[in-house]
Amino acid sequence: MNPLHIFETPQLLTRAAADGFLAAAAAAIAARGRFSVALAGGSTPRALYALLAAENLDWQAIHFFWGDERCLPPDHPESNYRMAAESLLTKIPLPPENIHRIMGELSPQLAAEKYQRNLRVFWGGAPRFDLVLLGMGEDGHTASLFPGSPALAETLRWVTALEHAAPPPPLVSRVTLTLGAINAARQVIFLVSGAGKAKRLAEIRRGGSQLPAGRVQPLDGDLLWLVDQSAASLC
Ligand code: 6PG
Repeated sequence: MNPLHIFETPQLLTRAAADGFLAAAAAAIAARGRFSVALAGGSTPRALYALLAAENLDWQAIHFFWGDERCLPPDHPESNYRMAAESLLTKIPLPPENIHRIMGELSPQLAAEKYQRNLRVFWGGAPRFDLVLLGMGEDGHTASLFPGSPALAETLRWVTALEHAAPPPPLVSRVTLTLGAINAARQVIFLVSGAGKAKRLAEIRRGGSQLPAGRVQPLDGDLLWLVDQSAASLC
């Protein structure tokens, strides 16, 4: 079982996640001249993105993707793209072509098709993200892979659309990377904060969990769980 890195406060958790991002970016750029990262949505990563915005990185070599997106316009308050744009992307010298967002303003199917095509073009085949950042919901979901979702059984596609409204609020359709695309990454870092996550995190840490977050296990890559003490309180 991968080690659990527990931090006293969300601030220390965020700093550790930033250090992980910086290390992954440096290694990827040194090895391949570019760094591909899939950002997590939700609220936890906002502080991380704000911290990264103050870093002096080779942003020209960094390509931003998303693990999932709500099917909303990019300027909607609940858009994962908007959260990243507000906290990071508009604050750094990033070429627009380095932003590979999921086009939430389109129909779920069309957004998924376009994103899948973008992944294929970027890698010339199957995606292998240098880093995938993930959060975990209180129900054990990650990205937009929810417990019991048919999307969990998808083995051919790297991107899929959940046509029907998915929790948590806002109850809108979603587009998400599949477990196959996530588990093909060189590294996955989970950021989990808050007592509300404790029950499911403990379940996953006991092993054998079929919760979506528990099924993230890179085939040829590293998995890092960065959690705060509240989230780890039942582990
Ligand atoms: C989303 C995210 C989702 C998120 C978890 C945790 O679109 O909501 O991709 O998977 O990471 O729900 O969200 P919090 O960080 O807000 O707890």
